[in-house]
Amino acid sequence: MFLKRKKVRALAGEVDYSRLPRHIALIMDGNGRWAKKRGLPRKAGHAMGAETFRRIALYCKEIGLEYFTVYAFSTENWKRPADEVNAIMGLLEKYLLEAIEKMEKEQMKLHIFGDLTPLSPRLKELCARTEEIAKTVNGLQVNLCLNYGGRDEILHGVKTFAEACQRGETTPDALTETLFSQYLYSKDVPDPDLIIRPSGEIRISNFLLWQGAYAEYYFTDVLWPDFDKEELNRAIVSYQHRSRRFGGIGGV
Ligand code: IPE
Ligand code: IPE
Ligand code: MG
Repeated sequence: MFLKRKKVRALAGEVDYSRLPRHIALIMDGNGRWAKKRGLPRKAGHAMGAETFRRIALYCKEIGLEYFTVYAFSTENWKRPADEVNAIMGLLEKYLLEAIEKMEKEQMKLHIFGDLTPLSPRLKELCARTEEIAKTVNGLQVNLCLNYGGRDEILHGVKTFAEACQRGETTPDALTETLFSQYLYSKDVPDPDLIIRPSGEIRISNFLLWQGAYAEYYFTDVLWPDFDKEELNRAIVSYQHRSRRFGGIGGV
């Protein structure tokens, strides 16, 4: 185990930039534990996590990644104390305002995946403005999963499809995997090639359940606020050493 880790470490920095994954997704986890370790309130961890997100998104742009999807707030995270939820919503508001201002200049477009219904009118408005501006921007596509749940997304897709059937616009016979993908928040975005979860938890926590069917997974003990470029490189190097078979027998 130790040797294996050492090998991956040694390879960090040896990213083959000509064979990058097209789409990396990431569960931004470990903010609370990062703060606890330092005797700080959990919201201080979320503030640091937001900084890490800014840095890593910029690095993704620098290396020429096409899609970066991050899990910021799940459909289950409402169970947390109100002041923590409010602090996270405040950070999201701040980030969206920034994105609205800088998206064009930074050539980074932001999309929001999730059920926006229970969000505050202010956040909803910022999400709508973000989506509007994103239409005119090229470059790295960052998808921010906000009040996102994989099961919720699939249910939402099923309902929307059923309604289209009721209106006579389509029929159950027409439904294929490709068509169903168009009913998800991620429509028009290729499936993630690599899904990263920091913080030491080895579970998916309702993230990209449909889209992650053939993703490569990478788990690391590093807490999200401590995650840096080197960690991302390590994940990419690990990805580049794997053989993706998609049920076949591999490259010949
Ligand atoms: C991730 O960090 C942020 C959100 C889920 C919003 P956590 O707050 O879950 O941090 P830990 O897992 O408690 O350390
Ligand atoms: C997943 O982390 C959700 C986000 C990072 C936004 P959680 O901290 O909510 O997941 P669990 O509760 O450990 O499964
Ligand atoms: Mg957590």
